[in-house]
Amino acid sequence: MSAHRIAVCPGSFDPIHNGHLDIIERCRPLFDQVIVGVLHNDGKAPLFSVEERVEMIQELVAGWDDVRVESFSGLLVHFMDAVGARVVVRGLRAVSDFEYEFQMAMMNRRLNRRVETVFMTPREEFSFLSSRLVKEAFALGGDIQGLVPDLVLERLDRRINGRREP
Ligand code: PNS
Repeated sequence: MSAHRIAVCPGSFDPIHNGHLDIIERCRPLFDQVIVGVLHNDGKAPLFSVEERVEMIQELVAGWDDVRVESFSGLLVHFMDAVGARVVVRGLRAVSDFEYEFQMAMMNRRLNRRVETVFMTPREEFSFLSSRLVKEAFALGGDIQGLVPDLVLERLDRRINGRREP
């Protein structure tokens, strides 16, 4: 078995917010490589296409050589095998996340015994953050500065307020 420890941080990232980035950053000292796995979930009618989500994250982690970003579709455990990873890292914000996360972790383990799920907690100031709330607050005119990177704020502005795409 390789001693190279690879973690996958999977998610929809529609869009990525500072809570996600905090978890990705926290993984870096613990693993040799961190792969951000962006779910190709057209069925959920995402605000940003998978290519746009991957590109945004790539820009944000550009200075981190140990982090790479890939999209995946189908089962997470198949993606894990394809990239040679055994550890899934998920952020746990509150007790309310637990049931869903617990079910996913158990299902993933049932599907592939080699896969372990590790839960990490984000910085307190991001413990309430979700992509859904970020989009809702922004669309209704709320100030979300500091909750998402500036780059994401610009993309949200263009997409939701119809500013011209570059
Ligand atoms: O950011 P999200 O939407 O909470 O992330 C959910 C994600 C992408 C981790 C989850 O939906 C997923 O792994 N989907 C891939 C399909 C899969 O493997 N399903 C079975 C595991 S429960």
